[in-house]
Amino acid sequence: MPINKVEKIWMNGALVNWDDAKVHVLTHAMHYGSSWFEGIRCYETKRGSAIFRHDAHLQRLIESAKMYRSAVPYTIKQLQEAVKETIRVNGMKSCYIRPLAYRGYGEVGVFPLGCPVEVMIAVWNWGAYLGSEALDRGIDVCVSSWNRPAPNTLPTMSKAGGNYLSSQLIKMEAVADGYAEGIALDTAGYISEGSGENIFIVRDGIVYTPPLISAILPGITRSSVFKLMESARIRIVEGLIPREMLYIADEVFFTGTAAEITPIRSVDKMNVGDGKPGPVTKKLQEMFYDVVRNGNDTYQWLDFVYD
Ligand SMILES: Cc1ncc(COP(=O)(O)O)c(C=O)c1O
Repeated sequence: MPINKVEKIWMNGALVNWDDAKVHVLTHAMHYGSSWFEGIRCYETKRGSAIFRHDAHLQRLIESAKMYRSAVPYTIKQLQEAVKETIRVNGMKSCYIRPLAYRGYGEVGVFPLGCPVEVMIAVWNWGAYLGSEALDRGIDVCVSSWNRPAPNTLPTMSKAGGNYLSSQLIKMEAVADGYAEGIALDTAGYISEGSGENIFIVRDGIVYTPPLISAILPGITRSSVFKLMESARIRIVEGLIPREMLYIADEVFFTGTAAEITPIRSVDKMNVGDGKPGPVTKKLQEMFYDVVRNGNDTYQWLDFVYD
């Protein structure tokens, strides 16, 4: 998806012109994947522009870096202010927000601690990640031939730049084969997640989702959907899921900041249910949009930008 350029980007405490937001070619992260990032959305709700689960995202950013012995040199509060300042200075009503912390220019070699941790925040306009029809009609996906990383290799709880080489392989293979997205299994063969989404499966009124040990990113939309299900008294089971559950499910859907709640209408060319988004998916979408579109902040998830 192309980036829609705006005026300013926040870099290490200063707002710089979009075209001047550059780094040196010997930036450590470019060579060794040593970066940590977030994808956050700011919604134009009926009560004003609001950032969805702002503190949870920034906390994950700090924790993603911590797993790599790296400290983001700003507090959550400072980052929160910086995000809001970047949105305001660019006059955005709604946008996608990309904070990134990375090991910068300093030394070359895999030992990263001689390189400073730098931070940038960019915002731009972004619509539905998987296409505008995806949210209403669902998408066609496949099971990927690529597995997610094995435990004790790369920590998948960290939203680290390097992890997204795995995501790129999953996504490129899926697109090359004519699918919108791929579902990766973990190294034991259980369902893990999409290239940039967590997955949920509905069968006989019960919702199943893989646990953290299935090499998933602990998604913030995932945890929000847990909360929505609790409110709607929908039973959720977090546990290892065999691949074949995808083929006999009543409903399957993805969650993610980019994907929001996206129904899956077929897996490996087999229809999910009757090939249309089902009632549980639709109910959760409705509850989610009540927060981010109507601005009904039942769960204290919204951080209003222009208050
Ligand atoms: C690999 C991966 N899994 C899951 C997710 C969903 O996470 P969230 O809901 O926090 O956006 C993302 C998106 O950030 C992701 O990149």
